[in-house]
Amino acid sequence: MLRRLHPDQPESFAFSPENQKWAEAQVTKYPEGREASAVIPLLWRAQEQEGWLSRPAIEFVADMLNMAHIRALEVATFYFMFQLHPVGSVAHVQVCGTLSCMLSGAEDLIGICKEKISPTPHTISKDGKLSWEEVECLGACTNAPMAQIGKDYYEDLSNQRFGEVIEDLRNGSAPSPGPQNGRFSVEPSLGLTTLLAGEGDRPSTNESVSLAEKFNDTIKKIDGSEVNLSVRWDKQ
Ligand code: FES
Repeated sequence: MLRRLHPDQPESFAFSPENQKWAEAQVTKYPEGREASAVIPLLWRAQEQEGWLSRPAIEFVADMLNMAHIRALEVATFYFMFQLHPVGSVAHVQVCGTLSCMLSGAEDLIGICKEKISPTPHTISKDGKLSWEEVECLGACTNAPMAQIGKDYYEDLSNQRFGEVIEDLRNGSAPSPGPQNGRFSVEPSLGLTTLLAGEGDRPSTNESVSLAEKFNDTIKKIDGSEVNLSVRWDKQ
């Protein structure tokens, strides 16, 4: 698939002050002359801040790393994880359409995206809040069908539950991620049959969901204020 920059670009890009400090700290991980090695984390942080990668953002990162603009453009256009088109202001929904999810109802989930967000992928909904795309396997096949929304996985989705999740996002809340059918993690849907030790005292949600709820950053645009900067590798 040909990946091109969006025809409408913003005038400029800058990291937030905290993200700028974070980005400068990342560069110190690499030996002098090898600063370009930080291109992926810096592009990723730019995307976390803005939701997508504009041309000014890609060129800003290239300038920070003393790279030719075309070198950073090559990276940004190669990896599908980089969004080259604007995404919904609230969330970009990525529905897995690979085998396990397709056999378990992904086509229906895609139909719901078409109905509730926009008829075509990478197109922002009329209210500007949401966009969607079909992606390849996200590695949560035992919880098919599933979708990644922001940073988190929403798994074991029924059509009804997926529709509710989309409406919740649209109305300003991010539903708790993880299995949406009451499963704890990847155990059989009818419950554990072996390795039952500790079954009675496990927490109500798995560790991944607990962390997502603790940080509450599922669909947050990251400005660098979320966690304290820790630069243990800094040579200065
Ligand atoms: S097939 Fe959907 S997560 Fe693997």
